[in-house]
Amino acid sequence: MKPWLQGTQCVGEKGQLEIGGCSTFQIAYDYGTPVHVIDEKFARQRMLEYVEAFEDSYGYSHVSFAGKSFLCSAWCYVLEQEGMGLDVCSQGELHVARKAGFPPEAITVHGCAKDREFLEAAIDYRVGRIVIDNLDEIRVISNLADQFDVKQGVLIRVVPGVDTHTQAKISTGAPNTKFGCHIVGGIATEGVREILDSPNLVFGGLHSHIGSSITDFQGFYDQIDEVLQFARAIEKDFKAEIPEVNIGGGLGIAYLPDEQVPTITEFVEAICSHFKASLEKYEVASKPQLSAEPGRSIIAPAGITLQKVCVVKKIPDGTVHVILDGGLSNNPRVVMYDAKYHMFLANRPQAQHDMRVTVSGSHCETDLIREDVLVPHDIRPGDIMVVQCTGAYGHVMSSNYNGTCRPAVILVNDGAANLIVQREEFDDLVYRDSVPARLLK
Ligand code: LLP
Repeated sequence: MKPWLQGTQCVGEKGQLEIGGCSTFQIAYDYGTPVHVIDEKFARQRMLEYVEAFEDSYGYSHVSFAGKSFLCSAWCYVLEQEGMGLDVCSQGELHVARKAGFPPEAITVHGCAKDREFLEAAIDYRVGRIVIDNLDEIRVISNLADQFDVKQGVLIRVVPGVDTHTQAKISTGAPNTKFGCHIVGGIATEGVREILDSPNLVFGGLHSHIGSSITDFQGFYDQIDEVLQFARAIEKDFKAEIPEVNIGGGLGIAYLPDEQVPTITEFVEAICSHFKASLEKYEVASKPQLSAEPGRSIIAPAGITLQKVCVVKKIPDGTVHVILDGGLSNNPRVVMYDAKYHMFLANRPQAQHDMRVTVSGSHCETDLIREDVLVPHDIRPGDIMVVQCTGAYGHVMSSNYNGTCRPAVILVNDGAANLIVQREEFDDLVYRDSVPARLLK
């Protein structure tokens, strides 16, 4: 069988899957399983592809990485080296970025329920921009900016009212969304008015994000049209310039070998050409910077999870269950979004994968990872399964369910395998516990 490989992956001399010039079997041996592995070179290539495609197709652009898809200290250094901005959606993500010394001016702050403490932390660090998600924030940010004696850059997140063909849980631009300020009904216009009226705020432009895992461009075209019509109305109503239009993230990837999806370059070219045409069509006078904040399309295909086969069991109806260590706790995406992943044995990828099995995790519920997975007929405990394309929303969504220690993350590049997030230890499971004195009697 020819395994479906990503990025720097190849089958090495020992017949094992290699990634970043490192043996996956060795990584599993050295760091234990489950373990997340990130192909640094491949991820960097994908960042560069975004930056160059925007540069070639539009020229005046900026790309930030959506930290919610994957974030840790080492990653902040990689992002900075690639000239990427970083968008954070919580005080916790901001904390990670600040601890790593990520340049504050390159940080964009998101969140649909930012409290005063978060906003204060953001302004205290002098972040480049805060994306307004509701009108109440404007007053708080304005007061804080006054207190800190800064002119705070802000964008306003507008709701374009576009429904996308993606999972309902990750569609965020539809008319009934909880995110952002609706254009319909005038809230977004009111928001722009308040921003422009505040002496402490600098109006940075418009933001919108319609959802995630999207492979059909029409939703993005509709989004651009709605936002640029709104931009034109703002120019007219307030004699204001629109310095930036940020279209969020959202491009999907192929999780399975037979899925046909556009490349990053195809996506960016299509978006930029529609954007330029719509600027003309709607007679937008400003020449806004065009920004994007992708997460999944950069990091998902660059990450894998290695999991050990613990049990192989044939049940009376003939089904063969293969149970891996981990599962739901290191990747809830299967349960939450019916996500499907490609899998094969990392320690012998070229063996005939000719037996259909049901692969599950080890948790105390069905914890299905995927049905109908082809594996070698002699699959046995101790084999290492690779789950492809888990780089986005895997590590960051992992949990301690069933007393599971969250996995380590290893960054590989040119033969070096470096631990960038340690595996949790059992003591971490009680680290935050406290026992009231009355129970100690
Ligand atoms: N910008 C904003 C404002 C967002 O809310 C998101 C993702 C992004 C950018 C990045 O989108 P991407 O390029 O990664 O599609 N947990 C879900 C995904 C939730 C996405 C949330 N927002 C999953 O595992 O599929």
